[in-house]
Amino acid sequence: MLFDERDQKLNERVTDEIKDSLEASIAGVWSENAISIHYEAIHNLPPKKLRQFVDLVDRNLGKFYVKHTGKPTWKLDKFEEMRESGLIYVWLTSEDNSIVGFMSFKLCSEDEDETVLYLYEIHIVPQFQALKLGGKLMQIFHALAKDLSDRKSPWYFQSCKATSLTVFTDNSPALSWYLKLGYKIHPNSPQDKHLRSGKVVKPDYYILIRSCI
Ligand SMILES: CC(C)(COP(=O)(O)OP(=O)(O)OC[C@H]1O[C@@H](n2cnc3c(N)ncnc32)[C@H](O)[C@@H]1OP(=O)(O)O)[C@@H](O)C(=O)NCCC(=O)NCCS
Repeated sequence: MLFDERDQKLNERVTDEIKDSLEASIAGVWSENAISIHYEAIHNLPPKKLRQFVDLVDRNLGKFYVKHTGKPTWKLDKFEEMRESGLIYVWLTSEDNSIVGFMSFKLCSEDEDETVLYLYEIHIVPQFQALKLGGKLMQIFHALAKDLSDRKSPWYFQSCKATSLTVFTDNSPALSWYLKLGYKIHPNSPQDKHLRSGKVVKPDYYILIRSCI
């Protein structure tokens, strides 16, 4: 069986089915008093909120996107990608209600009879970075994946054995952070090329994977 991650109706059902587990995963991890946590599926997310998230991607990684896509208009493509059906957004706000960070993820097809919880984005605003907020979001993400994979049904949760994500190879802080969190380079990821001169040519990005069972 193949999980059709482009089927909008299926995606909307799946995001509803994920919400209970997400609520429990957040309750098990989140204890920050000054920072509130919220979540919503993309089909219920106000466009204004999505624009704030895209602006944060630009602020954090705009230079990487211009460099790797070669397109000054990368943000329009990113906006479209971030509207994909099936995405769930989890975001943090400070006491004055401004955005402190967010992550987005979606259940995706990994192979026949296999699914994976794919992290599309994770961003913390610069002045709140390195305060373990990103680490807590990842704990929630991993707890959620484990909870879904422990379910006996539907099949697409039981067959979710891993979390996965994409990272620019030259985003060294994020890459080493993911490796510390237990991620490995996916066998299907673009790989380093070792030239006879001894030089190593890196691809633009790696796909990383981490077992959740
Ligand atoms: C990557 C990111 C989400 C991590 O969240 P965070 O809240 O800053 O990270 P945490 O406080 O939980 O963890 C800190 C660790 O991450 C590392 N780190 C990764 N990126 C960092 C950054 N930009 N600034 C400071 N530390 C960073 C630190 O080395 C630190 O290591 P330690 O635990 O050994 O001290 C966040 O720094 C960020 O938004 N970066 C810019 C956007 C980005 O690269 N997103 C990932 C796209 S694939």
